[in-house]
Amino acid sequence: MKRISHLALIMDGNGRWAEKRGLPRSAGHLEGGKAAVKVIRGCLSHSIPYLTLYCFSCENWKRPREEVNYLMGLFSSRIVAEIPRARKEGIRILHLGRREGLPDDVLEAIDRAEKETAECSNLILQLAINYSGTDEIDRAVRKAIQNGETSFDENTLPIYFDNPEVPPPDFIARASGEKRLSGFLLYQSNYAEFGFYDRLWPDWDESMIETIVNDFESRNRRFGGI
Ligand code: IPE
Ligand code: IPE
Ligand code: MG
Repeated sequence: MKRISHLALIMDGNGRWAEKRGLPRSAGHLEGGKAAVKVIRGCLSHSIPYLTLYCFSCENWKRPREEVNYLMGLFSSRIVAEIPRARKEGIRILHLGRREGLPDDVLEAIDRAEKETAECSNLILQLAINYSGTDEIDRAVRKAIQNGETSFDENTLPIYFDNPEVPPPDFIARASGEKRLSGFLLYQSNYAEFGFYDRLWPDWDESMIETIVNDFESRNRRFGGI
């Protein structure tokens, strides 16, 4: 049986979920946070060791200030609130993305979560907040140069990614029917399988992990071979 080692999810469709119900977009984000908790539970019960959630892209700063502020408040409060559960269930939280530009309370929440869950190992959960693949690659190149690297091979750059210990994703899934990466894990997606699902993110739960696990099992991965 093929198993997913690293699942990466693009949590999209919160705004449309809310608009369909005549609610403000913030209601979709709030519900999206609850969906994330269910999906994390699904990953734990399927013994998936790595999960990455795309929470906020470097491009999402273009949104109205009110929405950005709501999202930042949601990140800081939810991350802090989830630390006890993460510790209990053995979830190690890591930040993926650019720290510069994030408000202090989000950085404090991330730092606290990373510190207080550092010993956990059932599930490594990367929260991609203020993330874009081009930005991660750009920062990695700068770090490599600053560190005196002069010759690069395919093993050099990944050492300078945000969390070099995390393996590349085997499966990248996107909610809401859009079929694009929107900058997610550009380098690491090299040989990932893809799944695009119409269900809007706030409607996701444990059953979607079951669907993804089954889809992954049906894929014939050749990695360039035959
Ligand atoms: C995903 O939902 C959440 C973030 C990008 C922060 P959206 O807010 O993009 O929802 P839609 O795509 O507008 O429906
Ligand atoms: C991608 O969703 C980013 C996140 C899910 C955090 P967007 O809604 O921002 O992407 P586009 O604008 O549809 O490409
Ligand atoms: Mg969207």
